[in-house]
Amino acid sequence: MSATKSTPILAMRGVNKSFGPHDVLHDINLEVRAGEVLCLLGDNGAGKSTVIRLLSGVHRPTSGTIELDGKPVGFDNPRAASDLGIATVHQFGGTFPLMTIGRSFFVGAEPTRRWGPFKVFDRKKANAIAVKAVRDFGITRIDDGDRLVGGLSGGERQSLAIARAVHFGARVLILDEPTAALGVKQASHVLRIVNEAKRRGLAVIFITHQVTHAMAVGDHFAVLIRGAVAADFRKGQKTREEITDLMAGGEAMAELEAMIEGYAASQDGHAPQVA
Ligand SMILES: Nc1ncnc2c1ncn2[C@@H]1O[C@H](COP(=O)(O)OP(=O)(O)OP(=O)(O)O)[C@@H](O)[C@H]1O
Ligand SMILES: [Mg+2]
Repeated sequence: MSATKSTPILAMRGVNKSFGPHDVLHDINLEVRAGEVLCLLGDNGAGKSTVIRLLSGVHRPTSGTIELDGKPVGFDNPRAASDLGIATVHQFGGTFPLMTIGRSFFVGAEPTRRWGPFKVFDRKKANAIAVKAVRDFGITRIDDGDRLVGGLSGGERQSLAIARAVHFGARVLILDEPTAALGVKQASHVLRIVNEAKRRGLAVIFITHQVTHAMAVGDHFAVLIRGAVAADFRKGQKTREEITDLMAGGEAMAELEAMIEGYAASQDGHAPQVA
């Protein structure tokens, strides 16, 4: 089956968003398909998180439509979006540092067993399911569901959150800067997991400032500049330099280069010292 010909799972059609007098998003058109990663790029304040908040039911569009499987939908709240299979993982994984891995995996959906007249949380079962789900994603260092989430590394927490979303049947996974605070090794764990989610047929929307991370997982890229989609292209259609330039708003990088060159010329070819 050709992914490009299928109906997008999730799409925005001519979406605008204003907060009072502030027009934040202008005529946004985006699509994401099963088994595909859409990278949403753009500088600080470009409107990336606002797009995500519309797609995850936190805000509603001022005008325009959101489509799920080709049909218009309205999300009254985040729960409505997540009930329809749209899982959003926020920067620190939306997890609870003082909970165990098993507990946090099942927040809101605890497996229970009967104990006389009572229903009790089935800790063993929860731990086994959570640990298996995370290990199935290749994070084999996690083997004890009684460990506290707070003791996991940033990458492991992200992985746990993603594994949880997939386990509970998410079809669309939205990741708002999941690799922003991570070192090289941890970020590569998360990128691997994103690729695994894609292989399992999820549609993924991945926000990042790091072009390298985007290029490692993206099939499709959209660059937001001041609330509008300034470029929309597929893997291989632009070079790393072109993407970096677009993200910085083009002229900014050219200006910086000219400044450094000018400085070097005036300092006998020496570039400025970096502190
Ligand atoms: N609730 C709000 N009320 C008013 N303005 C808002 C609101 N939410 C966002 N904005 C404005 O919308 C613009 C886009 O913000 P947004 O958070 O979507 O940017 P972003 O691309 O995610 O930036 P960053 O990379 O820094 O996370 C900003 O100018 C921001 O101040
Ligand atoms: Mg943001």
